[in-house]
Amino acid sequence: MALLNILHFPDPRLRTIAKPVTEFDEELKQFVSNMFETMYEAPGIGLAATQVDRHIRLLVLDVSDARNQPCCLINPEIIESDGEEEMDEGCLSVPGFYEKVRRADHIRVRAQNEDGEVKEFEAEGIEAVCIQHEMDHLEGKLFVDYLSNLKRNRIRSKLIKMQKQKTD
Ligand code: NI
Repeated sequence: MALLNILHFPDPRLRTIAKPVTEFDEELKQFVSNMFETMYEAPGIGLAATQVDRHIRLLVLDVSDARNQPCCLINPEIIESDGEEEMDEGCLSVPGFYEKVRRADHIRVRAQNEDGEVKEFEAEGIEAVCIQHEMDHLEGKLFVDYLSNLKRNRIRSKLIKMQKQKTD
């Protein structure tokens, strides 16, 4: 297993639109286990492949308190959504910032697992929010895109400053 490098906003690679996964081979399973290791180590509740500069439609999450319910969604689709809720969101690609975002609070999802098997399930609350957030990454979208320009620009300049300090 290996830890993967997480890209930080405003890295333009985070704007890449991910391609569908078509090969469910050993290499993919190895990548999934590296994704889990990277997410747990960070620590975070979700991670999309886009964030580690691999542009395929794959994400991992674990919203359980005990951190023992790993879930990998490949080629995920939201087939139904309703309700609305507003939650504080953060992102491993936008470290240190938390802002309210409005999303559907109940969704029905269809996705494949590491073996390519299709599953369908319902999610609500934080799990629904996390899936929508990670699926946005696959479209090159970040939670800061839902904020005002003023807020987003403020976050951008703070992160650029932090990255400069790290490399100086
Ligand atoms: Ni994120």
